[in-house]
Amino acid sequence: MTESCVAKSRKDNRPSGEGMCGAVFPPPATGPRGFRASSAAPERHGARTGQFGDPSRRRPAGEPSRAGVRAEPRMIRRVLLMWRQVSFWPRALRCVNGAVVAPGTSRIRSGTRSEPGRPVHRNGQRRPVQGEAVSRVEPVLARALFRTPLLRLDVAHRGRVRRLGLKLESRGPTGSVKDRSAVGLLRALHDERPLTPGTVVVESTSGNLGLALARMLPGLGCDFLAVVDPKTPHTTRRMLTDRGARVLVVDEPDGRGGYLLSRLRRVRELCADNPGYRWPDQYENWAAPDIHRRVTGPELTGQAGADLGTVYVPVSTGGTLAGIGAHLREHRPDVAAVAVDVRGSLAVAGSAGRRLIPGIGASRPSAFLAAPHSYDRAVHVDDIEAIAVCRILVEDVGLALGGSSGCAVRAMLTDREDDGPDDRLSVCLAADGGGKYRDTLYSDDWATEQGVAKEITSAVEHLRSEGLFFDRKHQEH
Ligand SMILES: Cc1ncc(COP(=O)(O)O)c(C=O)c1O
Repeated sequence: MTESCVAKSRKDNRPSGEGMCGAVFPPPATGPRGFRASSAAPERHGARTGQFGDPSRRRPAGEPSRAGVRAEPRMIRRVLLMWRQVSFWPRALRCVNGAVVAPGTSRIRSGTRSEPGRPVHRNGQRRPVQGEAVSRVEPVLARALFRTPLLRLDVAHRGRVRRLGLKLESRGPTGSVKDRSAVGLLRALHDERPLTPGTVVVESTSGNLGLALARMLPGLGCDFLAVVDPKTPHTTRRMLTDRGARVLVVDEPDGRGGYLLSRLRRVRELCADNPGYRWPDQYENWAAPDIHRRVTGPELTGQAGADLGTVYVPVSTGGTLAGIGAHLREHRPDVAAVAVDVRGSLAVAGSAGRRLIPGIGASRPSAFLAAPHSYDRAVHVDDIEAIAVCRILVEDVGLALGGSSGCAVRAMLTDREDDGPDDRLSVCLAADGGGKYRDTLYSDDWATEQGVAKEITSAVEHLRSEGLFFDRKHQEH
């Protein structure tokens, strides 16, 4: 195997972590009830001495202030409050999804439900059980859960106009649905054994999960080693190193149209050589589907409302679809969950072949979607057509989405082509935005290099000749 360590962390003094690799959870016995409910992880909150100042340096009560005026405590409080409002307002409040909120709060309103043995807050944050110290880890994770908007569009195609909702996961903290997966995975890893400062976390990623982990792990004092491949956009690799992650590029093709199997082999070797490394294992850890069942699914159905008919979810590990599908089965059995895969991927059946779009597809079947009831049906999409859809979306509504979102929209058009007059809302999970793909999926130079420039142009022309047009009719919410 050939590999190159493209970039090293800016923090190179990495103490060896503790713990073991392989936080692999058993798959659920049957349906959603089989999802693991993690046990509480007692941990002491880092005791921050002097948080409110050194008592020995405080002015004794009643002693005049430096100004020589004995201020009334009520007056002091008022002055302090006014001063804070004037000087700290921009920093003290931040804008999340268009709303101004206090720091440390997120706008997740729908979502999590209490499970036996795992009490949770409304925003998915684990509530400490009685007697347990507040975890230093939980607030960092809970802050990464954002409520993302649902953008409503009208889509004209082949003489019909349909209603489409795009669940814009690009509005999460690192711009993809993997922000949520990372919270579930790290929470499970920490519940299994505390993630102590200095721990090295290693993960195989096509990019998005890596970005999410790279954002959260420094807040926990942990180091991150991202095992990526040549399809990971350079922008993503740069962002990873900027956040202090080490990036290891595995460039040996796995013989199944991608690099996944080579990446996973490398992660196993690293864990065997470094027993202290911890591996969340997004491909087999049921904590990822579980957070989508408890958070993403309820958020999506709450926004879409009663006339939601079908949800289209792009698949790589299958974790997002498995979780949303479990939520739908339990709470909205009238809504169909459709697996969106790309030609050349084995994630949900199919046969191995060339794949152009990062983030979607896999070189092996999804471990989370093996059960027959995990989704209603699958649509395999041509990647050239998906890129064409992405470009048309930019032309029509000025919205650049990632390639897997283009796949989801193309899948919806195919899937609903022969539908009757049913005008229930279709929602596509738009797993990430198009910014990272400016130099690839949206670049004519890249298309020429790949030898697909003409194919993309004629796919755009063909879809336009079928009347494909997007119109931004409704407001996001
Ligand atoms: C852009 C994009 N789309 C879709 C997916 C699929 O998500 P999952 O791995 O949960 O199937 C991913 C996963 O990395 C992704 O990055």
